[in-house]
Amino acid sequence: MALRAMAFDGAVKDGLDAAERASRDEIMALQRERLAWSLRHAYENVPHYRQSFDAAGVHPSDFRQLSDLAKFPFTVKQDLRDNYPFGLFAVPREKLARIHGSSGTTGRPIVVGYTPADIDMWANVMARSLRAAGARPGMMVHVAYGYGLFTGGLGAHYGAERLGCAVVPMSGGMTERQVQLITDFKPEVIMVTPSYMLAILDGFAKAGLDPRASSMRFGVFGAEPWTNAMREEIEQAFAMDATDIYGLSEVIGPGVAQECVETKDGLHVWEDHFLPEVIDPETGAVLPDGEPGELVFTSLSKEAFPIIRYRTRDLTRLLPGTARPGMRRMEKVTGRCDDMMILRGVNVFPTQIEEALLATDWCAGHFLIELTREGRMDEMTVLAEAREGFWDRAGLTVQAERLVTRIKDTIGITTRVLIQPPGTLERSAGKAKRVIDKRPKG
Ligand code: DLL
Repeated sequence: MALRAMAFDGAVKDGLDAAERASRDEIMALQRERLAWSLRHAYENVPHYRQSFDAAGVHPSDFRQLSDLAKFPFTVKQDLRDNYPFGLFAVPREKLARIHGSSGTTGRPIVVGYTPADIDMWANVMARSLRAAGARPGMMVHVAYGYGLFTGGLGAHYGAERLGCAVVPMSGGMTERQVQLITDFKPEVIMVTPSYMLAILDGFAKAGLDPRASSMRFGVFGAEPWTNAMREEIEQAFAMDATDIYGLSEVIGPGVAQECVETKDGLHVWEDHFLPEVIDPETGAVLPDGEPGELVFTSLSKEAFPIIRYRTRDLTRLLPGTARPGMRRMEKVTGRCDDMMILRGVNVFPTQIEEALLATDWCAGHFLIELTREGRMDEMTVLAEAREGFWDRAGLTVQAERLVTRIKDTIGITTRVLIQPPGTLERSAGKAKRVIDKRPKG
């Protein structure tokens, strides 16, 4: 079962490991070799893949070049639910080192597994991600992603240790304590969801501390969509460099793709381990690089939980590599197919509302969208929190009207905007919930 060509996970030279230094051709050659292995591994060890490949009339031996991947069937979240808990695992349970999962909102949780070699690979791609974000050995990393079945906390933790950093395994929540430990321990790096970083910012204000004077120089933010406007907000507030990290439990957890601090131009996909495709979500056809669509991932080296052509539901497009020329970038994720709201025929994502809010001077990015139905019409109400210092000022009604006009002009939908007093919208300690759908079901 051992995977050949692991030589790529070698020593770091000039801040880059062997795969980061490789050319596009070298990466593609490695992908061909690893993908042939991964398809065979899934087919031979997971009954679900054997059945789905057989039903589609394809066999791992049909794979010769990377474009042949398009012949293989997709995997979707329902396949994970149908095979709950361990049906998609490719190794016996005594070979497992770790289980993670995500609760989701309804029904069975999804469950994923890791062998010691999978954990090792994950630690390597996370260490690589942290390095790309600006972290260096010897720094201290404050991890405020949740620990537990969620992959954020432990994924970040192992990566930071692998890089040679000291980890503060804080997990999410207890905002006052977060602020105190950041102030006392003086970490250079913080890893947390962008929405919870805003809550930590509130915590600094409450404690009467200047966030720009904090020790934090690099922030590694992900697990939810966020905009470049939010990046600017956070970078200004804390005087730090903020980069985007992407991943999902089904593929490994965080560390599938990471933005490089020197370019901040989208996320380089760690293509030596995860092969991305972008498809038309309606037809399933593979789209050329540069075209927006649904992101699909295939694991190239995972042992316990190989995943073939997994439909992430995340929307983005693939672009050529820049800071790491051998690996393609994915543009910041605008949203998930499932988050897309359709209002009178216009598609809207919460990130578009975030962008409009952050273009004002009175909103710091805390917001909630409520969808209701009035008669036969869907209505959107944006509850947007005012910054401290803006709430008591005259003219907020005018500001709300201005925002309504701006949203109408830029996004093309009519909303209601209700400005809320500072500190009143609920903060989440992990992924923010941006939309409350109050429309009658069915
Ligand atoms: O959220 C893994 C993770 C932890 C990523 C910490 C980054 C940092 P899941 O809970 O399985 O795993 O959720 C995966 O979250 O399909 C996206 O919809 C969303 N997501 C994750 N990272 C980003 C990002 C973790 N940087 C789902 N931008 C994914 C936008 C993101 N959405």
